[in-house]
Amino acid sequence: NEDQFKKVVSHAKEYGYIFASSEIYDGLSAVYDYAQNGVELKKNIREYWWRSMVYMHQNIVGIDSAILMHPTTWKASGHVDAFNDPLIDNKDSKKRYRADVLIEEYAEKQYQKAQKEIEKAKVRFGDNFDEQQFITTNPRVVKYLEEQRNVLARMAHSLEKEDLADVKALIEELEIADPETGSRNWTEVRQFNLMFGTKLGASAENAMDLYLRPETAQGIFVNFLNVQKSGRMKIPFGIAQTGKAFRNEIVARQFIFRMREFEQMEMQFFVRPGEELKWYEYWKETRLKWHLSLGMGEENYRFHDHEKLAHYANAAADIEFNFPFGFKELEGIHSRTDFDLKAHEKFSGKKLQFFDPELNENYVPYVVETSIGLDRMFLAVLSHSLQDETLEDGSVRTVLKLPAILAPVKAAILPLVKKDGLPEIAQNIIQNLQWDYNVIYDEKDAVGRRYRRQDAVGTPFCITVDHQTLEDNTVTIRYRDSMQQERIKIEEISEKMKETISY
Ligand code: GAP
Repeated sequence: NEDQFKKVVSHAKEYGYIFASSEIYDGLSAVYDYAQNGVELKKNIREYWWRSMVYMHQNIVGIDSAILMHPTTWKASGHVDAFNDPLIDNKDSKKRYRADVLIEEYAEKQYQKAQKEIEKAKVRFGDNFDEQQFITTNPRVVKYLEEQRNVLARMAHSLEKEDLADVKALIEELEIADPETGSRNWTEVRQFNLMFGTKLGASAENAMDLYLRPETAQGIFVNFLNVQKSGRMKIPFGIAQTGKAFRNEIVARQFIFRMREFEQMEMQFFVRPGEELKWYEYWKETRLKWHLSLGMGEENYRFHDHEKLAHYANAAADIEFNFPFGFKELEGIHSRTDFDLKAHEKFSGKKLQFFDPELNENYVPYVVETSIGLDRMFLAVLSHSLQDETLEDGSVRTVLKLPAILAPVKAAILPLVKKDGLPEIAQNIIQNLQWDYNVIYDEKDAVGRRYRRQDAVGTPFCITVDHQTLEDNTVTIRYRDSMQQERIKIEEISEKMKETISY
């Protein structure tokens, strides 16, 4: 809901996760900076992905290709000709929107209305409720879901045919209004290429027009043969990469959900032609398992199989996550056929083929890709973790229940008071732990307030050094989620932390 989303945005700023870019100049639209805790959370998510992809699969290796690529890359990939979004202007407010996003939002509202009816019925019928039957027989629910499907199908059809007049007609028929001003005064729909252009070269005459990459995938495709040969890879094998991508997005109203500069984590899996759909199913399942391993609730994920396929795909699905503004795409799994490698063969004149010793033949491999936005994953983790909890005494604590493995700071070491040698012991503990974990020292304010601050930052453990420590070398360890405390020996701290924080 709207309130939760606002809370996430302000919490991200207050606790050093995300700042608007160039904030002192009032920010830059849809561009953000990661702050001291944000950079750690982002790095930990990247690491969690990288380990599961590259270290856990003997047939997947990583690369880090350049953001700037030869401009013909984007001719071959189709981005110069087909990477467009339908753009619509509001005559009155002069605001620009992506027509497809407005239509999708309308469709999502129908779905939400159906869900509301289902929830109400659940309460009404209790144990006797047969959800499947209700969905197919209740006239209101049937109407909402049909409307949702029809609208999406019609939009997909118009976009595929590049029938922009029909996209406009649809906006008018559905009486979709400008989300900010409420007015319905639209001009024509037109195509808008999403790539950022730049120039390479010193003088204007011989400068070369380049693009900032809109996806990391093409850096993998053009390196396919280099990696295969130098790594003596056998099909099936994968190449993984994380890195920045840039898109001149039109609608950019959802914080880090849709940014103009963002980071992707992509993996291209090269397979025998004809085996791609088997691997597509494999990767759908494997990626969902990865998400579920973080323990953010099975009910918060769903697959959305695409009816409208991109120009390069023969099957595609999204893993959607339940964001504060509803279920939205988090990751895409695409069966990209041999489209990209074939296109690069054509445009470069170089062969991009694999000799399969078992089949004794050469072929252009088919590709199944998994592609997730790192920033979007960050938003999923942050918004799911931020909770207001009412305690037994009626007070409310704000706690960021991040999966411990992802938390920016793993432990805060707190001397109870700033004297009697307690700070020195705390510093000693830090010196031992900092080889393995990002830990911090805090001696300001009463210890209760320090606990609350660490709860809000999402630190899974607080270690408190008090006067008893002087006597028996024990400390208090306090757990963020349960708020339980126990006394352990200083030498046991690292082991204790490892129980929760290990891959
Ligand atoms: N190589 C395939 C590809 O780029 P995509 O569906 O356009 O596919 C993949 O993007 C993922 O990248 C999305 O699922 C999303 O998580 C992320 N992503 C795409 N555009 C984004 C944006 N403007 N801001 C943040 N993340 C974005």
